[in-house]
Amino acid sequence: MDFYIDTANLEDIKKYNALGVVDGVTTNPSLIAKEGVSLEKRIKEIVEVVNGPISTEVIATDAEGMLEEARKYASWHKNIVVKIPMTVEGMKALKVLSKEGIKVNVTLIFSAGQALIAAKNGAAYVSPFVGRLDDISEDGMALVHEITTIYGNYDFDTKIIVASVRHPRHVVEAAMMGADIATIPSDIMDKLFKHPLTDKGVAAFLADWEKVKNLQ
Ligand code: G3P
Repeated sequence: MDFYIDTANLEDIKKYNALGVVDGVTTNPSLIAKEGVSLEKRIKEIVEVVNGPISTEVIATDAEGMLEEARKYASWHKNIVVKIPMTVEGMKALKVLSKEGIKVNVTLIFSAGQALIAAKNGAAYVSPFVGRLDDISEDGMALVHEITTIYGNYDFDTKIIVASVRHPRHVVEAAMMGADIATIPSDIMDKLFKHPLTDKGVAAFLADWEKVKNLQ
Protein backbone atom coordinates (compact mmCIF):
# COMPACT_ATOMS: atom_id res chain seq x y z
CA MET A 1 0.00 0.00 0.00
CA ASP A 2 1.27 3.45 -0.89
CA PHE A 3 0.97 6.53 1.28
CA TYR A 4 0.57 9.89 -0.42
CA ILE A 5 0.62 13.16 1.46
CA ASP A 6 -2.44 15.36 0.90
CA THR A 7 -0.89 18.81 1.09
CA ALA A 8 0.88 21.48 -0.96
CA ASN A 9 2.99 22.56 2.02
CA LEU A 10 6.63 22.05 1.01
CA GLU A 11 8.00 21.85 4.54
CA ASP A 12 5.52 19.12 5.49
CA ILE A 13 6.28 17.24 2.26
CA LYS A 14 10.03 17.37 3.03
CA LYS A 15 9.48 16.37 6.68
CA TYR A 16 7.39 13.27 5.95
CA ASN A 17 9.42 12.35 2.87
CA ALA A 18 12.47 12.11 5.15
CA LEU A 19 10.46 9.74 7.38
CA GLY A 20 9.91 7.38 4.44
CA VAL A 21 6.14 7.67 4.29
CA VAL A 22 5.64 9.68 1.08
CA ASP A 23 5.18 7.65 -2.10
CA GLY A 24 3.37 10.51 -3.84
CA VAL A 25 1.56 13.81 -3.30
CA THR A 26 -2.01 14.98 -3.94
CA THR A 27 -2.94 18.63 -4.19
CA ASN A 28 -6.15 20.47 -4.99
CA PRO A 29 -7.00 24.15 -5.54
CA SER A 30 -7.91 24.63 -1.85
CA LEU A 31 -4.57 23.19 -0.68
CA ILE A 32 -2.62 25.35 -3.18
CA ALA A 33 -4.60 28.45 -2.09
CA LYS A 34 -3.45 27.91 1.53
CA GLU A 35 0.19 28.22 0.45
CA GLY A 36 0.09 31.65 -1.24
CA VAL A 37 2.33 30.58 -4.15
CA SER A 38 1.55 29.91 -7.80
CA LEU A 39 0.48 26.41 -8.75
CA GLU A 40 3.30 26.05 -11.27
CA LYS A 41 6.00 27.16 -8.83
CA ARG A 42 4.80 24.85 -6.06
CA ILE A 43 4.30 21.79 -8.25
CA LYS A 44 7.76 22.24 -9.77
CA GLU A 45 9.19 22.43 -6.22
CA ILE A 46 7.31 19.29 -5.13
CA VAL A 47 8.55 17.14 -8.04
CA GLU A 48 12.12 17.95 -6.99
CA VAL A 49 11.45 16.52 -3.50
CA VAL A 50 9.24 13.47 -4.12
CA ASN A 51 9.98 10.85 -6.77
CA GLY A 52 6.42 9.60 -7.24
CA PRO A 53 3.04 10.58 -8.67
CA ILE A 54 2.10 14.22 -7.99
CA SER A 55 -1.61 15.03 -8.55
CA THR A 56 -2.32 18.50 -9.94
CA GLU A 57 -5.95 19.55 -10.39
CA VAL A 58 -7.52 21.35 -13.34
CA ILE A 59 -9.63 24.46 -12.76
CA ALA A 60 -11.56 24.47 -16.06
CA THR A 61 -15.05 22.97 -16.01
CA ASP A 62 -15.36 22.30 -19.76
CA ALA A 63 -13.59 19.41 -21.50
CA GLU A 64 -11.60 21.62 -23.90
CA GLY A 65 -10.32 23.78 -21.06
CA MET A 66 -9.46 20.70 -18.98
CA LEU A 67 -7.51 19.21 -21.90
CA GLU A 68 -5.51 22.40 -22.34
CA GLU A 69 -4.61 22.56 -18.64
CA ALA A 70 -3.92 18.82 -18.43
CA ARG A 71 -1.46 18.86 -21.33
CA LYS A 72 0.31 21.88 -19.82
CA TYR A 73 0.65 20.22 -16.38
CA ALA A 74 1.82 16.93 -17.93
CA SER A 75 4.57 18.83 -19.78
CA TRP A 76 6.04 20.06 -16.46
CA HIS A 77 7.32 16.65 -15.31
CA LYS A 78 6.92 12.94 -16.07
CA ASN A 79 5.48 12.26 -12.59
CA ILE A 80 2.55 14.67 -12.91
CA VAL A 81 -0.88 13.06 -12.63
CA VAL A 82 -3.73 15.33 -13.75
CA LYS A 83 -6.66 15.52 -11.35
CA ILE A 84 -10.01 15.87 -13.10
CA PRO A 85 -13.41 16.12 -11.39
CA MET A 86 -16.02 13.39 -11.82
CA THR A 87 -18.30 15.32 -14.17
CA VAL A 88 -19.62 14.65 -17.67
CA GLU A 89 -17.11 17.15 -19.08
CA GLY A 90 -14.40 15.56 -16.95
CA MET A 91 -15.16 12.13 -18.41
CA LYS A 92 -14.96 13.55 -21.97
CA ALA A 93 -11.51 14.92 -21.17
CA LEU A 94 -10.45 11.67 -19.47
CA LYS A 95 -11.26 9.62 -22.55
CA VAL A 96 -8.94 11.79 -24.67
CA LEU A 97 -6.16 12.04 -22.09
CA SER A 98 -6.03 8.31 -21.40
CA LYS A 99 -5.51 7.71 -25.15
CA GLU A 100 -2.69 10.29 -25.11
CA GLY A 101 -1.01 8.43 -22.22
CA ILE A 102 -1.56 11.23 -19.70
CA LYS A 103 -2.37 9.75 -16.28
CA VAL A 104 -5.60 11.03 -14.72
CA ASN A 105 -6.80 10.93 -11.10
CA VAL A 106 -10.58 11.30 -11.14
CA THR A 107 -11.48 13.26 -8.04
CA LEU A 108 -14.64 14.00 -6.06
CA ILE A 109 -15.86 10.39 -6.30
CA PHE A 110 -18.86 9.82 -4.03
CA SER A 111 -20.47 6.68 -5.51
CA ALA A 112 -19.39 3.29 -6.85
CA GLY A 113 -21.19 4.05 -10.12
CA GLN A 114 -18.94 7.09 -10.60
CA ALA A 115 -15.86 4.96 -9.87
CA LEU A 116 -17.02 2.40 -12.44
CA ILE A 117 -17.47 5.03 -15.16
CA ALA A 118 -14.06 6.56 -14.40
CA ALA A 119 -12.39 3.12 -14.66
CA LYS A 120 -14.16 2.31 -17.93
CA ASN A 121 -12.91 5.61 -19.37
CA GLY A 122 -9.30 4.81 -18.51
CA ALA A 123 -8.65 6.60 -15.21
CA ALA A 124 -5.26 5.73 -13.73
CA TYR A 125 -6.62 6.60 -10.26
CA VAL A 126 -9.94 7.37 -8.57
CA SER A 127 -10.25 9.37 -5.37
CA PRO A 128 -13.27 8.48 -3.22
CA PHE A 129 -13.68 11.20 -0.55
CA VAL A 130 -14.45 9.15 2.54
CA GLY A 131 -14.39 11.92 5.15
CA ARG A 132 -16.85 14.12 3.28
CA LEU A 133 -19.28 11.17 3.09
CA ASP A 134 -18.89 10.54 6.83
CA ASP A 135 -19.54 14.27 7.37
CA ILE A 136 -23.04 13.88 5.92
CA SER A 137 -23.75 10.70 7.95
CA GLU A 138 -22.95 8.30 5.11
CA ASP A 139 -20.29 5.58 5.30
CA GLY A 140 -17.18 6.59 3.37
CA MET A 141 -15.34 3.31 3.88
CA ALA A 142 -18.38 1.31 2.66
CA LEU A 143 -17.86 3.11 -0.66
CA VAL A 144 -14.22 2.00 -0.74
CA HIS A 145 -15.34 -1.58 -0.07
CA GLU A 146 -17.75 -1.38 -3.03
CA ILE A 147 -15.08 0.00 -5.35
CA THR A 148 -12.44 -2.59 -4.36
CA THR A 149 -15.00 -5.35 -4.99
CA ILE A 150 -16.03 -3.99 -8.40
CA TYR A 151 -12.47 -3.36 -9.60
CA GLY A 152 -11.46 -6.84 -8.39
CA ASN A 153 -14.38 -8.45 -10.25
CA TYR A 154 -13.26 -7.03 -13.58
CA ASP A 155 -9.49 -6.62 -13.12
CA PHE A 156 -9.55 -2.87 -13.75
CA ASP A 157 -6.06 -1.34 -13.56
CA THR A 158 -7.44 1.86 -12.00
CA LYS A 159 -5.90 2.44 -8.58
CA ILE A 160 -7.96 3.55 -5.60
CA ILE A 161 -6.72 6.57 -3.64
CA VAL A 162 -8.65 6.81 -0.36
CA ALA A 163 -8.97 10.60 0.06
CA SER A 164 -10.51 13.07 2.49
CA VAL A 165 -8.94 11.02 5.29
CA ARG A 166 -9.99 12.30 8.72
CA HIS A 167 -8.27 9.91 11.17
CA PRO A 168 -5.78 6.98 11.30
CA ARG A 169 -8.62 4.44 11.34
CA HIS A 170 -9.53 5.46 7.78
CA VAL A 171 -5.98 4.49 6.74
CA VAL A 172 -6.08 1.15 8.58
CA GLU A 173 -9.48 0.25 7.13
CA ALA A 174 -8.26 1.24 3.64
CA ALA A 175 -5.32 -1.15 4.07
CA MET A 176 -7.60 -3.96 5.29
CA MET A 177 -9.80 -3.49 2.22
CA GLY A 178 -6.80 -3.61 -0.10
CA ALA A 179 -7.08 -0.02 -1.36
CA ASP A 180 -3.94 0.82 -3.32
CA ILE A 181 -3.25 4.20 -1.74
CA ALA A 182 -4.34 6.49 1.09
CA THR A 183 -3.65 10.19 0.72
CA ILE A 184 -3.07 11.52 4.20
CA PRO A 185 -3.03 15.08 5.58
CA SER A 186 -0.01 16.06 7.74
CA ASP A 187 -1.87 15.99 11.07
CA ILE A 188 -3.11 12.45 10.41
CA MET A 189 0.43 11.36 9.42
CA ASP A 190 1.51 12.54 12.89
CA LYS A 191 -1.26 10.56 14.54
CA LEU A 192 -0.32 7.39 12.62
CA PHE A 193 3.11 7.41 14.25
CA LYS A 194 1.79 7.84 17.77
CA HIS A 195 0.21 5.78 20.52
CA PRO A 196 -0.08 6.96 24.15
CA LEU A 197 1.11 3.57 25.41
CA THR A 198 4.30 3.90 23.34
CA ASP A 199 5.06 7.28 24.96
CA LYS A 200 4.17 5.92 28.40
CA GLY A 201 6.35 2.85 27.83
CA VAL A 202 9.38 4.93 26.77
CA ALA A 203 8.96 7.21 29.82
CA ALA A 204 8.74 4.18 32.16
CA PHE A 205 11.85 2.52 30.68
CA LEU A 206 13.83 5.76 31.02
CA ALA A 207 12.66 6.27 34.63
CA ASP A 208 13.68 2.71 35.56
CA TRP A 209 17.04 3.09 33.81
CA GLU A 210 17.75 6.24 35.84
CA LYS A 211 17.54 4.11 39.02
CA VAL A 212 20.25 1.64 37.94
CA LYS A 213 22.41 3.37 35.37
CA ASN A 214 25.27 4.10 37.80
CA LEU A 215 25.44 0.62 39.35
CA GLN A 216 28.76 -1.20 38.89
O1 G3P B 1 -7.22 15.88 -1.82
C1 G3P B 1 -8.58 15.83 -1.73
C2 G3P B 1 -9.18 15.43 -0.41
O2 G3P B 1 -8.33 14.61 0.30
C3 G3P B 1 -9.78 16.55 0.34
O3 G3P B 1 -10.03 16.28 1.68
O4 G3P B 1 -10.40 17.10 3.95
O5 G3P B 1 -10.96 18.60 2.03
O6 G3P B 1 -12.36 16.60 2.53
P1 G3P B 1 -10.98 17.19 2.59
